[in-house]
Amino acid sequence: MAFVQSPFYNPTVPFTGAIHGGLQEGKSILISGRVLPGADRFHVNLSHQSGIALHYNPRFNENTVVRNTKLWDNWGSEERSGGMPFQRGQPFMLTIICENNLFRILVNGRQTRTFNHRFTPVQNINILEIDGDVQLSSVSV
Ligand code: GAL
Repeated sequence: MAFVQSPFYNPTVPFTGAIHGGLQEGKSILISGRVLPGADRFHVNLSHQSGIALHYNPRFNENTVVRNTKLWDNWGSEERSGGMPFQRGQPFMLTIICENNLFRILVNGRQTRTFNHRFTPVQNINILEIDGDVQLSSVSV
């Protein structure tokens, strides 16, 4: 039987992929791609049955990366500190590492943000979604 599994090469956007077995401490997600030249925004969501455990949302018009959670229809409080590590038209590598108390987020190998877990257990976070003004070259779940 043929099936497609991670890493995914040149997947189309919007991208949705299963995180088999859910997240766990020490597990990383690697995304490489390129921001579209006229980009407004894109996002990476780590999701579960009832919402989004991490919405990571670079916004070029606001020159910042918004991080948040969503439960059913309700967004939580946004985290907006820090600069903008992405540039329109440029390639990037985004790594999200699931640690015990937080997600550690690296862009191009440099740590940019941490995001304390608001949704646990992390094993229930089992969907990766990417959408917006990006082109993807590889996604490893
Ligand atoms: C909203 C926006 C959502 C999401 C959210 C994050 O304003 O419509 O797409 O980015 O902010 O807090």
